[in-house]
Formats: sequence, structure tokens, C-alpha cells
Amino acid sequence: MIDSHVHILPGVDDGARDEEQSVYMLEKAKADGITHWIVTPHYNHACSPHTYDELKSRFIKWAAIYGNSHAKDNLLFGVEVYVDEPFIKFLKHMDKLPTFENSNYMLIEFSRAWKVEQMLEAIHELKIRGVHPVIAHVEVYPDLLEKPENVKQLADEGCMIQVSASSFLDRHYYKFLRALIQLNAVDIVASDGHDVKNRPPILSDSYRAVTKHFSKNWANRLFVDAPRKLFYGEVYVRPHMVVTVTKRQIYTMGSSVIAGLALLFIGLGQLGFLPGGSNPDALNIAVLESTEAISDATDGGFDLTDESIAAGAKEEETTEQVTVSTQAPASTGLPISATTSVPSKLTYDEIVTIHITMLELLQSDYEANVARIYEDIQNARTFISDEAKRKAAIDGYIEEAGALEAQCDIEVYDVLYKFQNALEEFDYPVDVIEESRAEYHSIKEATKQKYLNEF
Ligand SMILES: [Fe+2]
Repeated sequence: MIDSHVHILPGVDDGARDEEQSVYMLEKAKADGITHWIVTPHYNHACSPHTYDELKSRFIKWAAIYGNSHAKDNLLFGVEVYVDEPFIKFLKHMDKLPTFENSNYMLIEFSRAWKVEQMLEAIHELKIRGVHPVIAHVEVYPDLLEKPENVKQLADEGCMIQVSASSFLDRHYYKFLRALIQLNAVDIVASDGHDVKNRPPILSDSYRAVTKHFSKNWANRLFVDAPRKLFYGEVYVRPHMVVTVTKRQIYTMGSSVIAGLALLFIGLGQLGFLPGGSNPDALNIAVLESTEAISDATDGGFDLTDESIAAGAKEEETTEQVTVSTQAPASTGLPISATTSVPSKLTYDEIVTIHITMLELLQSDYEANVARIYEDIQNARTFISDEAKRKAAIDGYIEEAGALEAQCDIEVYDVLYKFQNALEEFDYPVDVIEESRAEYHSIKEATKQKYLNEF
């Protein structure tokens, strides 16, 4: 596999802290089956004050030392460009655009608050200068997450669409990703790895999830074929696909839950509670889903069978049908069914871990976005000399901050609502909900206060 978006260059942004951590990340990625990396530190971003040339020079030194012993010639330099209004304005003054080292591909991100119309305007400015934009982690933008057809618009404008690997393991993004597949509006999956713990530089779990829920062809397209075009600077043409996914594919929170439930079934099999006895391979079981996942599947869910996205080569059909046996083993007479006898109960700790992780992701996004807006205001003060225009721009950013806060509230309360439902479903105490809500408000206030004090 090829990872086309990773923050592994040490000490330049919010990715690898130092050389030791970057080597650790490389080793972890290699063990995961990744063979090539496009190294993409942040550029024109609040967390990275470096110029393109400085980043490139740091990359060359680092790759000369660690590339030889850890990755040979499988490292390519690129950057992840934060595209904002000042950047677009200065495009015409740039001698060398910050594309990937060997091509006109440019990995880009925007303010989370941007609407698709703003993105399309910026993309137009890039494309008329010969850039082939690759939009990073499209799932983080509310205007795209809520309207997948907006992503289709960007794809149709000639952008490559990238999604973070971890999102394929997070049910928060399930409907969105399914829609992108249906629209044929996703091209690449990358790790966007920043460290070994919270945002690890790995892909294999997600590759397996895509294979299971969609098909092996889709997995190879997203994780191998399209990233290879980027790595070697070759022309990419989005394939026409016929999507075929078997009925009742089930999506769960993440690989750890799947692994835990798979072990549960293997354990039951070994105890003779399931047909197939001690041979797990004989069990006709893939995943036991949560109640919510069942409703996802039955209300339209993953049933894309026979759906034609466009004329073209027919994809290999996934054969991993999700079924849970309802036969009673003759030896025990115990009935096993998906909703009654199989002990599908999640522990309190599992429920808390899943939801706190989601809240922490929202928190880090919120903090990063507030920091970016602050940076935008500083840029407006620096770059816009006309007083009226400067004031208008700053007012716009302040309005953006308000919209960001409102959006964050919606997302956090959605997670808290699901969190509480999950706890109540199993009669667990729900005190943690109130604590989480209070902590969210205190973090939000502290973040706002921090920037207000600086003005
Ligand atoms: Fe990134």
C-alpha cells in the first residue's frame, strides 16, 4: 500500500515530534504493509511556519539518513497546503507552486467552515495555474459531510477526493462514505498519520473494512491504484464503476469492537454453542452488529446490489454475507439468534471509550479551527491594507468563528445523545454524560478566552 498523506517529517508541524518518533512511525507503517510514503508536512498553516524550500531541505536531509535504512527510495516530498484567501491572492507571485515534488498534484485543505462554493472558487484559481488538486479528508467539512453531492461537484471539477483511513472505522461517517461510493466521488484513502497513538500512520484495518463492506476492487482502487498514480506523478483518470455490495453488510464502531465480537464468537464456537464446534472458519458469522447498525442495514443500509453508478467494468462482488445463525446446536439445544441469546452486551468501559474518543476528536478539530481562524485574522491584518476591506474580512472571520461554535455544539450534543442512549440500553450509570457536557463547555470557554485575551 501507498500512504499519500502523512506527517512523518520530524519537528516541523503537529506530526512527528522528533526523529525518534518519526522512525517509530515509519516502522509501524512498514509493519502494517505500507511500502511507499508521500511525506506531507503542513504548509501555510498555523502549526507550521516554514517555507516550502525550508520543508524540502528538511525532507532531503531526513530522507538521506532515514530513507536509506528504513524506506530506501520509497519517500516522496509533498506538502499539505492550507488554502485560504491570502494564499489564493499570492498564487500569481509564486515562482514555484507547492505541489508534490514530481508532478502538479497539490494536496490541499481549507478552513472547516468553508462552503463548497468557496472551495470551488479556490479550485478554479488553482486549476487555471495547472494544479491538479487533491482534497484531503473531505469528511471534516460540515458542508460536505451533510451534502455528499457537494463532494461529487468537487470531484467533477477535476479534484481527487481523499478520505482519512480512520473514518472507515468510525460509524459517524458511515452514511457519508457509503454515499461517496454510490456517487463514485472518492479516489484515495490515506492515513493522515500524525503520531503512533491518536492518529497512527496505518491503513490495513481500513483496507479490510473497505473490502468487507464494499469490495476488494474498491479497496485496491482507494489504497493502491490511485495513490500509486500520485506517487509516480502519473495521470489519474477516475474509473467508471458498477458498485456491487451484498445485502445486509454491517458497519460497526471500529476494528476493536469487531475483533472483540469475533473473539466472542470463536469462544462460543469452541464451547460448542455454535454450529461448527471448535473450527472458527466453519462459522458463518462475520460481525455481530449493534442495534443501531441493524437499523442502518434494514432501512436501506448497505444494500447497493445491482446499482449501476456508470457504464464500465463490473466489479468483483463481495461474498462476505453477514449472517448470524439461528440454528440450535443439537448437543445443547441452546437457541442462538442475533438479537436474543448471543451475549452482545458492550461493557461500560467500551461504550465510554468509544464515545470519549469521538468527543476528543471533535475537541481537537474545534481547537484547531479556532486557531486557524485566529491565524486568518492575523493574516488579514498583515495582508489587507485597505481599512474597510480589512474590517470586512475580520468581521467575516468572527462570523465564521460563531458558525464554527454552533456547528461544534450540534456535533458534540449528537455524540452525547448517542452516548447516553448506549449507556441506558444496558442500564449503566449515566453520570459521565453530565461530566462530559460540563467539560465540553469549560474547554470551549477556555479556548475562546485564550484568543479574546490576545486581541
Ligand atoms: Fe494532514
